[in-house]
Amino acid sequence: MPNQSLAIAQQFSHTTSETETPTLLSADEVRTVLARNEQSTLLRISTAGSVDDGKSTLIGRLLRDSKSVYDDHLVALEKKAVKRGSDEIDLSLLTDGLKAEQEQGITIDVAYRYFSTQRRRFILADTPGHEQYTRNMATGASTADLTIILIDARKGVLIQTKRHSLIASLLGVPRLLVAINKMDLVDYSETRFSELVNEYTEFAAKLGITEIKFIPVSALRGDNIVARSAAMPWYAGESILEYLESVFVAGDSNQVDFRFPVQYVIRPNQDYRGYAGQIRSGHIRVGDEILILPSHKRSKVRSIEYLDPDPAKRSLAAATVPQSVTISLEDELDISRGDMIVRPRNVPESRQEFEAMLVWMSEEPLDLRRSYIVHHTSRETKGVVTDIAYRMEMESLHREKGSTLNLNEIGRVSIRTTSPLFIDPYDRNRATGNFILIDAQTFHTVAAGMCLDRVSTQELLRREHDEATAYRRSNDLHRESGSIDRNARESRVGHRTITVWCTGLSGSGKSTIAREVEAKLFELGRPIYRLDGDNLRHGLNADLGFSLHDRSENIRRTAEVAKLFNDAGISVICSLISPLAEDRIQARSIIGAEHFLEVFVSTPLEECERRDPHGLYRKARAGELKSFTGIDSPYEAPIAPAQTVDTSRLSIEESVQAVLELF
Ligand code: ADX
Repeated sequence: MPNQSLAIAQQFSHTTSETETPTLLSADEVRTVLARNEQSTLLRISTAGSVDDGKSTLIGRLLRDSKSVYDDHLVALEKKAVKRGSDEIDLSLLTDGLKAEQEQGITIDVAYRYFSTQRRRFILADTPGHEQYTRNMATGASTADLTIILIDARKGVLIQTKRHSLIASLLGVPRLLVAINKMDLVDYSETRFSELVNEYTEFAAKLGITEIKFIPVSALRGDNIVARSAAMPWYAGESILEYLESVFVAGDSNQVDFRFPVQYVIRPNQDYRGYAGQIRSGHIRVGDEILILPSHKRSKVRSIEYLDPDPAKRSLAAATVPQSVTISLEDELDISRGDMIVRPRNVPESRQEFEAMLVWMSEEPLDLRRSYIVHHTSRETKGVVTDIAYRMEMESLHREKGSTLNLNEIGRVSIRTTSPLFIDPYDRNRATGNFILIDAQTFHTVAAGMCLDRVSTQELLRREHDEATAYRRSNDLHRESGSIDRNARESRVGHRTITVWCTGLSGSGKSTIAREVEAKLFELGRPIYRLDGDNLRHGLNADLGFSLHDRSENIRRTAEVAKLFNDAGISVICSLISPLAEDRIQARSIIGAEHFLEVFVSTPLEECERRDPHGLYRKARAGELKSFTGIDSPYEAPIAPAQTVDTSRLSIEESVQAVLELF
């Protein structure tokens, strides 16, 4: 695997040729280049595909036929600055975003190519397509506005295509360009094109990327790369270059939430202390009030400098994402690398425990007993993966159980860190929702992670709620531990305390089973309590409806109550529809995986509907009741429940017996 220095070297070479010597620039030329950069919008592209699908040909064709200017100038400019060790030219102007990757020590084999046409500048992260290079693909995609996915028209949608698409979607790439290549080898067939479009669209529906463009091309022959092709008169859309030049991306960046991770503290003399870094989202003005994380100290922005710490030069009144600037404050505060400057009324979550999707990129599998370095914005801490909720099966995107993640596998995990990270949901803020895991011994990047928006959506909702009620959660809350722990209570009652969680459709028989199980255990003298969804909705959860958010909150609260009962030495049987796997995973993590047992009451929909104990299915079918589970609201069956009971096949007694076995 090429090392980092090679990767960086590749960034500074615009072609693979080693012999070319770029021309050095005059001061005027430097100014012209910089001015042009400021004006034209930049499009960051990453590429993905399998071996032999023609990616290099496509890129070569794109660069050559578009007569685009390879940015020799930029390359020369950078080389010059690097050679002199000069800080006169801010490389981040040209490569912002990429620097972060270098700093993170990602060992990658990504060649960044800079080119531009009259209409736009491009940075293209060109990554090898072989399976083992998933990590490179992920690295290239982590800052991309768009990912080009190549599909060989003859081979169709391969597992690798799916893997790369999923990674792109996890990394929050806002749009995909699916280039269906080698159309010449399928006789430019419109039918074949439509087939592949349908196949991919069906798959992509599960990804959450809504902006997908399909273009039929032949990279080898240049069809629809730069000019539209006469060979496919049935295709009326744009060529690849036309699309790349015109696609609107300016709306992508988060202009709202000001996030400024401090990269360096600059202290040239006693009178000046500046904090340098890149604005990852939002904007800031001189005079604005700010808050520092983690200290929660407040101050105001005294100055914003661009490129040069000398306030006489290049002083700005305001700055915005993605500028790299140096900020000084009105007060002398103790701020160091890894701190984050934000606005007092718009603060990311400080978290030491969070859930994330992980793309595992190392030959050595994930080890739950090891601690890794977690690198998030400019902050580093140690962390352990405490749980793997599921792994994604690539072909179908199904979730499956797993105790580790191997090379290229993707899974949902829980992470605990030794110090807090300042996290936003990645769908709201890619820059502060992403992180990487680094092996503490080898310093290799082993995984890319995306903080999950499930948790984050809840945080967002809570924030909205907080704002609405002018209530702010205090930072001065502590946990008070008691002197009697759960073990002591368990040994007094002589039983392990557990929560058995029955999930299934309305009318599946959950409540009936739970009632009987409770009665039987009570008879046996076991401390037991039943928590029933319908009943709780009359009291504790009376403020909740049946939106997915409300259901999620319903389940969270019920899980918290179950946990309290368990802590008090009382086992619990819950009966809630709890339709989403993610919510049940959350319940499990609240209650503790070792105390949580899931029962899937799997009675089929037809049978539940036939029983229709409260006439709700009838109402739902008649359109009188909206968002009814199984009719127009989803139900996700558990992957690996502790017990499955189908009350259409088993008698009540048999079903109850099956559940009792768990206690
Ligand atoms: S959950 O989805 O949030 O877990 P919960 O188990 O608490 O649901 O409540 C489900 C019960 O509410 C059903 O048994 C039914 O009696 C009633 N109900 C009313 N409206 C709906 C609806 N739209 N979807 C499902 N159940 C509903």
